[in-house]
Amino acid sequence: MMFKAGRLAVLSGFAALALAAGLNAATPTRIKSTEDLQSRAGPTIDPETAPGRAIFERACAMCHLGGVPKAPSPGFLAMLAPDAIVSAMTTGVMRQQSASLSAAEKIQVAEYLTRTPYASYQRPAPPPRCKGAAAKFDMTDVPAAIGWGHDNRRFVPTEIAGLAKADVPKLKLKWAFAYPAATHIRSQPTVAWGTLFVGSQDGTVYAFDPDTGCTKWTNRLSAEVRTAIVADAASKRLYFGDLLGKVHALDAMTGKELWAAKMSDHADATITGTPTLGGGQLFVPVSSLEVVQAGNPAYPCCTFRGSVVAVDPATGTEKWRAYTAGQPVPQGKTTDGTQILGPSGAPVWNSPTYDAATNRVYFGSGENYSSPADDGSDAVFAVDAATGKRLWNTQLTVGDAWNVGCMMGLGSCPKEGGPDYDVAASPMLVDTATGAKMIVVGQKSGQAWGLDPETGKVKWMTRLGHGGTQGGVHFGMSAEGTRVFVPINDMADTGDARLYDPALRGAGLHALDATNGNIVWQAKAENKCEGRKFCDPGISAAVTSIPGVVFGGHLDGMLRAYDADSGAVLWQYDTNQPMPAIGGQTAKGGSMSGPGAAVWKGKVFVNSGYGMYSHSPGNALMVFEAAK
Ligand code: HEC
Repeated sequence: MMFKAGRLAVLSGFAALALAAGLNAATPTRIKSTEDLQSRAGPTIDPETAPGRAIFERACAMCHLGGVPKAPSPGFLAMLAPDAIVSAMTTGVMRQQSASLSAAEKIQVAEYLTRTPYASYQRPAPPPRCKGAAAKFDMTDVPAAIGWGHDNRRFVPTEIAGLAKADVPKLKLKWAFAYPAATHIRSQPTVAWGTLFVGSQDGTVYAFDPDTGCTKWTNRLSAEVRTAIVADAASKRLYFGDLLGKVHALDAMTGKELWAAKMSDHADATITGTPTLGGGQLFVPVSSLEVVQAGNPAYPCCTFRGSVVAVDPATGTEKWRAYTAGQPVPQGKTTDGTQILGPSGAPVWNSPTYDAATNRVYFGSGENYSSPADDGSDAVFAVDAATGKRLWNTQLTVGDAWNVGCMMGLGSCPKEGGPDYDVAASPMLVDTATGAKMIVVGQKSGQAWGLDPETGKVKWMTRLGHGGTQGGVHFGMSAEGTRVFVPINDMADTGDARLYDPALRGAGLHALDATNGNIVWQAKAENKCEGRKFCDPGISAAVTSIPGVVFGGHLDGMLRAYDADSGAVLWQYDTNQPMPAIGGQTAKGGSMSGPGAAVWKGKVFVNSGYGMYSHSPGNALMVFEAAK
């Protein structure tokens, strides 16, 4: 135990940081030193000498170092806020396991795990509460089935958007909110019942008045909210996934938690794609950060495999589970003599697409983590929504096994050695000129694909960029009618010794015809980084469209509105700056990545700040409205 835990202390320096960097469909690329990975700002605790270390080894390690599958690994615990760990030990799920510890010892454990001196951690100041009419919910504003969690085309029709193309150039910042203790934001805002719902890095979910930014309620849960908030019109519940692999259901009117359920037995499981509501079920995509564990040459990689779980939205009870990769079994040893287990990986990073007409669910997978690569990686799946039975799967890149060991040049790197080309963005079910539907998917390789929904057969493929471990296509595309909008990131990253052909560079926004994949227009992004650190011109974040306009947040912090007919920039705003925020605070924008904009009744809601993977940190929720 001592040796193992000692090893952990050294390893978790990297693993915790890599995890703090919030490994996603993207895997770290240009990371040359741990300084490139920013997690929580401020002073840090030395894990080697921290008094909490011995307490953790005595009271927690037997479960949290792999002894109990459901216990999150220390890399995950490192990403929680220190007070969230103390409250888990005091009043939360770990109160029994921590009963023998004094209040001071609990703080020491939290300091050791998070590397954060407890006294230096500012408890979030409560945002102002709404009074009078602003505190009420508008029950006539019934949430439409649009956006992640309902319809992955991310298209907002006129009656909900309430924003004409002609008014887009008049958009002005109306109010901003500074998420406390945050360096990045992964939760996409949702507006329903006249209320703006969004989650944050410290696990708080907010119900804001969209006009003024006061709060109707807030509820702080233990771990980062990593998905969009899904509003269920019928039951008035909100659903979302968190860092520790749990899905939560809250009462939208009060914020009270109705249920929470862990979606995997694996210690490294996490939820990244938004759970999708359809046909009376909630389809939850399960991803994991186990890919990082292979950065430890002694770690037997890997045992996680991706899945989509159908659960009962009323209770969180599992009904079926559809796996991507095959069952991991022993596969020989690495050059370090460590057991290899495979096939593994093929996490599902994206929000599944439900089709009521055929009662089918579509989703895409990432790379295998270990050898052998199988047919479950970098693939698109169609399953029966009633049973989870696989109807077809189409693999877009064959033989892709990769883990963090490859980045570090370790023996744990599988012989396939990548290229880590996840089907990162959600498959979209799009109309075509023939009247037939097309499954349109985007891949980190920089390719967009059109697949026959019946058979999975590839109808077309269009290359739009050179791709990379952070895309290519990363978080999400959008579609208006038969037109598909494809954001391309294409960082010029060479940190993992892979060179991408600059002639193929496509950083920016592209419009395709879903019928045949033909390019309609291309708007390559201007590079305004001028040597700035953590700055890239491309689009990693999901894009959102309204009639005639596409909103795309760029990694350099620029939020742009593109003309859907021509690709011309109609309006832009540099979010990468400090700004006055609700409650006399100052919010700071940064890189834009992960989720995209929400548009509702003339307002545009976006997050800015993505302090991981060589991107700029920030903590801003921004609300724009057209000046009258
Ligand atoms: C007997 C095994 C066991 C021991 C001992 C144990 N844990 Fe846990 N821990 C778990 C499991 C299992 C979970 C996941 C529970 C769940 O998600 O419902 C967990 C979850 C957690 C969480 C996440 C809480 C949340 O709100 O989701 C924290 C933080 C944590 N443990 C800290 C600790 C600390 C600190 C110690 C030592 C004082 C400790 N644990 C000891 C098994 C254990």
